[in-house]
Amino acid sequence: MTDIIDQPMATPRPRLTVVGTGYLGATHAVSMASLGYEVLGVDVDQAKIDRLTRGEVPFHEPGLPEMLDEALASGNLRFTTSFDEAAEFGDVHFVCVGTPQLHGSHAANLAYVEAAFTAIAQRVRKSTLIVGKSTVPVGTAERLADMVAAAAPDPDLVEVAWNPEFLREGYAVQDTLHPDRLVFGVSSERAETSLRAAFEPVLEAGTPLVVADMKTAELVKVAANSFLATKISYINAMAEICEVTGADVNLLASALSYDDRIGARFLKPGLGFGGGCLPKDIRAFMHRAEELGVGHAVEFLHEVDEINARRRRRTVDLVRELAGGDLRGMRIACLGAAFKPNSDDIRDAPALDVADMLRAQAADVVVYDPEAMGNAREAYPQLDYAPTFAECVKGADVVVLLTEWARFREADPEMMGELVRHRAMVDGRHALDADAYRSAGWEYRALGRPAQPQTVRLVEDVKDQVAAMA
Ligand code: UGA
Repeated sequence: MTDIIDQPMATPRPRLTVVGTGYLGATHAVSMASLGYEVLGVDVDQAKIDRLTRGEVPFHEPGLPEMLDEALASGNLRFTTSFDEAAEFGDVHFVCVGTPQLHGSHAANLAYVEAAFTAIAQRVRKSTLIVGKSTVPVGTAERLADMVAAAAPDPDLVEVAWNPEFLREGYAVQDTLHPDRLVFGVSSERAETSLRAAFEPVLEAGTPLVVADMKTAELVKVAANSFLATKISYINAMAEICEVTGADVNLLASALSYDDRIGARFLKPGLGFGGGCLPKDIRAFMHRAEELGVGHAVEFLHEVDEINARRRRRTVDLVRELAGGDLRGMRIACLGAAFKPNSDDIRDAPALDVADMLRAQAADVVVYDPEAMGNAREAYPQLDYAPTFAECVKGADVVVLLTEWARFREADPEMMGELVRHRAMVDGRHALDADAYRSAGWEYRALGRPAQPQTVRLVEDVKDQVAAMA
């Protein structure tokens, strides 16, 4: 990372604000400050701003706390709740507020985005660019541009642009400083010039740039997330076929992945996708396409969502099978709560959904996660939580791996076997060494894999390939 960070900047640096300091905004603010920009982070949540000002990152993101400390110490980064201060300070404002799914609908809630754009626009007194980074339905940016023009004291001073973000939680800093591409959605040369100045070190490092109109830029984001969700559900649909034929989805995925046109990434079968992005983005996309009269074009996303939901139910079925056909009173150790490892995010987490379905079938469920316990307890107070990994598996009739944290993957099946009541494992993430578990006397089951060990085995390099698929 130092390569980009150490580069001197040629053109005058715009001063940046980042409105919304969640995963996306906090990471963006810290990363831009680390590149030498003067950055002001803005949020309506005073408690969040206070924590960030003290150097505390309010969520789990590897590497970010250290970078926040450095950015605060350098004087490049400050935080505020004042939009007056933000409008006066910033030349380029990045809006990074959430667009969660609306209650009772597939649509995205755009209230926070609209409020952020309007709050800046009303206070603009100098030449200003307001850049949306939030994920929004196609057509939103143009509507916001009209709102901004109407709200601004002088509409000629302010312009709107769109710059979608592709960072993954758990790799947020790396993805922000070294993105695989930048997309600028602009409607003037002036906006493109400002954005180029705001990303100069990243562009200088050779990052590919696509300059597009705002609609295309908005669409890139939802199209990318829809493609990723489709790829995951595709391999999970193959798992359903494997389950009724006795074929092995792990071998199938590794054989497919050697074809460069298909590739290994996001072809990892298992419990499927969750989180604050993929599920709500495909739903909002379907909703928007229907509004536009082209719902049929993305109708397949209904099936992508359905396949994903069926994987959760199938995991519950496998646990019930291993428990002898009836979950009542069975102690089930649920390993993982976060929607993926290296995150404490539990939004639409497959792990907690499965744990709750097991509880609903009267199982004695206990959950453990290395980082997400606080968030899980708050959202699912009806579940029981163990203070440690060992306490979780102690006395279990079935253990089910739901989030593939390294410490679960690396656990010794023999040592874990000493703690449980029955050596029965459901590997919801295809993350464990089936042979090692079976050798240690475990009954091992995974979605889309035969119940009995295969006579044909994965050769070592294929095993590595399978491990690298996540
Ligand atoms: C996703 C996208 O990958 C980012 O590019 C995008 O910027 C982000 O959404 C966003 O819209 O903000 P993220 O939600 O952090 O990032 O998580 P992913 O790494 O994409 O994983 C999503 C889910 O898919 C996880 O539950 C993961 O366990 C699951 N997954 C992933 C699989 O089941 N199989 C795979 O092969 C890969």
